[in-house]
Amino acid sequence: MKIAEEIKKIILESCSDLKLSVVEEEIKIEHPADVSFGDYSTNIAMILAKQEKINPKELAQKIVNSIDKSDFVEKVGVAGAGFINFYLKSEFLIKEAEKINYESIFKNELSENGKGKTMVIDYSAPNIAKPFGIGHLRSTNIGQAIYNIYKILGWNCVGDNHIGDWGTQYGKLVAAIKKWNKKDLNDLTIDDLEKLYVKFHKEAETDKKLIDEGRDWFAKLEKGDKEAKEIWQKCIDISMVEFEKVYELLGVNIDFVHGESFYEEKLEEVTKEIIDKGITKKSEGAIIIEFDDTPPAMLQKSNGTTTYFTRDMATIRYRMENWKPNLIIYEVGADQQLHFKQVFKTAEMMGWMPDERMVHIAHGLIRWTTGKFSTRKGDTIHLSDVIDKAMERAKEMAPENDIETIEAVAIGAIKFNDLSSDPRKDVIFDWDQIMSLDGDSGPYLQYTYARCKSVLDKTKIKEQKNINEIPENINDDEMALIKEFYRFEEKIMEASERFSPSVIAEYLLGVARKYNEFYAKNRIIDQKEEVFRVFLTRVTVSILKTGLNLLGIKTVERM
Ligand code: ARG
Repeated sequence: MKIAEEIKKIILESCSDLKLSVVEEEIKIEHPADVSFGDYSTNIAMILAKQEKINPKELAQKIVNSIDKSDFVEKVGVAGAGFINFYLKSEFLIKEAEKINYESIFKNELSENGKGKTMVIDYSAPNIAKPFGIGHLRSTNIGQAIYNIYKILGWNCVGDNHIGDWGTQYGKLVAAIKKWNKKDLNDLTIDDLEKLYVKFHKEAETDKKLIDEGRDWFAKLEKGDKEAKEIWQKCIDISMVEFEKVYELLGVNIDFVHGESFYEEKLEEVTKEIIDKGITKKSEGAIIIEFDDTPPAMLQKSNGTTTYFTRDMATIRYRMENWKPNLIIYEVGADQQLHFKQVFKTAEMMGWMPDERMVHIAHGLIRWTTGKFSTRKGDTIHLSDVIDKAMERAKEMAPENDIETIEAVAIGAIKFNDLSSDPRKDVIFDWDQIMSLDGDSGPYLQYTYARCKSVLDKTKIKEQKNINEIPENINDDEMALIKEFYRFEEKIMEASERFSPSVIAEYLLGVARKYNEFYAKNRIIDQKEEVFRVFLTRVTVSILKTGLNLLGIKTVERM
């Protein structure tokens, strides 16, 4: 149930009884930082008092007096300069917790939100012939979490992996392979490809002819030259095998792979359509699109070739035709902000998709705390090195030789680090924090989950859906926990609205902290409160499991 919405309704009714004119958007409902001021609070009386030129406290009291008692509000009070505070009934809070415990009911209610709506999310999108780097890891983790969040809210979700497999750089790669590779094409590895590509750029600094060679090879590729295509396809195959390994390890599954090359045959038509719309301009032989407040985008280079921008335009058109999405989300680094601004503006000018229904989640960088991360090659950070190191540390946290748990902890730790702060912020990669068992980390949540599971193992109460009798004295630790539970739905909604899985990550940490405080101070097994406390444990399990699942993090039974 959307409690904040219900509270808004109550206030609207009360205001209309008092003949106060108020619009719904004016009513802001918040959780007071201090629970002694209730579960929800609004400053609407202060806003209205200003308009009506009356004392805000008195008005707040008037509104409170005319509020009809509802079945979920225990009491309403006035505090401070005119805040109206709502206190929820414990029975109601427990009813909400029961729904979470009945996972299917909870999920059914959630899925009403996105009924009939479709979103497309463009995420991961690594570039072929390069190892999967830490930047694409961010996109993969955040993108998958957002996909999961929209899915649980009932949206029809389409994940689309816009692999980088087209453009002049692949002409360079073919040139490098033709020039220096001595191996059979079938024996090439992703490392070989990366080395060849790096070598090309090094040599090109002194040998300018190389750039032309690369361009020529790309021109051949574009014309469908057999040899060029064969070498290029090999590079794709080698890279895809590598990417699949990464996805498997991360437990990520992207619905579609449409590399940039997929759009190659559609580019002519799209370019023509854009030119026909009359929004382009010739500039030194190239075709560009100008905007009011953004530098121009290049639709076609002076030599007639297309660009990353052109391919993204074709991509939007394809997605609109195929899936008719209400929303398109791009999970791509912040360095492409200008690019997406141009893409969105153009799509709007074309009448394909309104600007406000396209979102670029411009994720920040990953920074290292303690000096440099040691890698095999220096500058690029290889995901496999990061995972190896995480596995090493996870070994100390899992039962010996329990590879499944070790992997879940290692991967969970890395993912949580990506997901626990707002995507737009830079993330600090600090091993001690990432793997900490008592800090804000993935392992901490997995550990709390395992702790709950061991309680459920010990108790004789094996099945329990409802709490039939609410205990007379719910103590503070229990109450603090119950008051976390009912916010789960709100948090999932907020995460979707803000495109930020961190809302859920933070919420889960809060639940885990409250559970651990409760656990430290209260015995559970063989106490007269056992029924109730086991119930609280079950709801915690359900929240941690569903929440971690949304983040793409596995739970473990023992740690
Ligand atoms: N392959 C690109 C890169 O690594 C990201 C692609 C993002 N998606 C898009 N539709 N442009 O920079």
